[in-house]
Amino acid sequence: MLELKNVSKKFDDNEVLKNINLDIENGEIIALLGPSGCGKTTLLNMILGLTEVTEGEIYYNGKPVHNVPMKKRGFNIVFQDYCLFPHLNARENILYGLKNTQKNTDTKEITDLIELLDLRPHLDKKIHELSGGQKQRVSIARTIVMEPKVLLMDEPLSALDGMIKERIKDMIIKVAKSLSLTTIIVTHDPEEALTMADKIVVIEEGRIAQYDSPDMIIKQPANHFVKKFILNQLEIKRHNIYALFGEQHGA
Ligand SMILES: Nc1ncnc2c1ncn2[C@@H]1O[C@H](COP(=O)(O)OP(=O)(O)O)[C@@H](O)[C@H]1O
Ligand SMILES: [Mg+2]
Repeated sequence: MLELKNVSKKFDDNEVLKNINLDIENGEIIALLGPSGCGKTTLLNMILGLTEVTEGEIYYNGKPVHNVPMKKRGFNIVFQDYCLFPHLNARENILYGLKNTQKNTDTKEITDLIELLDLRPHLDKKIHELSGGQKQRVSIARTIVMEPKVLLMDEPLSALDGMIKERIKDMIIKVAKSLSLTTIIVTHDPEEALTMADKIVVIEEGRIAQYDSPDMIIKQPANHFVKKFILNQLEIKRHNIYALFGEQHGA
């Protein structure tokens, strides 16, 4: 279990996260959901170990990790903008992190992962030869071969659209569930959170407004903010769909 106890973060005098308490069960997919600037990335980076907590504690399976450096913490992240090495091909990018370890790069686990993410036809391509969705899948594979105890993703779908977005979404869920990976996904899109996560953390200006299953978030939003945020975002989508297809299809 991953536990956050009274975690706060200040940048100078600006307190961007306040008293975050969170219990995440092993193997769960969690979405951190909220509008831009509410503190999602900061929270993710504190769990990763990239950003120090100002106050509070983080425990993994009962052991404190908030003072453990990022590399030793054993968590890993898929960045929003992929951060792949342009001079290496897809295969070399995926295996890069294993270079200085004793780990075998020719295992069934890695072959299965490449299969699951449908990357086999693209392994010899340079990064500039890959589409956005392919780059994202390489970036996910590269992170997962490191066998993180917790997989963190910052807006993994935000650069993708349409069918590709749906496909990558399904792949992320499939990989996370088949490996029983504890997965924390940052998103500003309620639809992504509602369709991907076992539980959603709705963040309102640095505080947790609600931590619940998608079902409960919809049925019993904890406050006005949660209700408005979810409904507004879904409403914007509905308007966009109407604009595309006309009202008669949207009822
Ligand atoms: N390194 C930093 N130094 C100062 N302020 C920061 C830093 N990182 C984030 N912030 C501030 O913290 C707040 C939350 O940012 P962030 O966690 O990136 O939000 P989100 O990911 O939800 O959009 C914002 O007001 C942002 O300006
Ligand atoms: Mg962010």
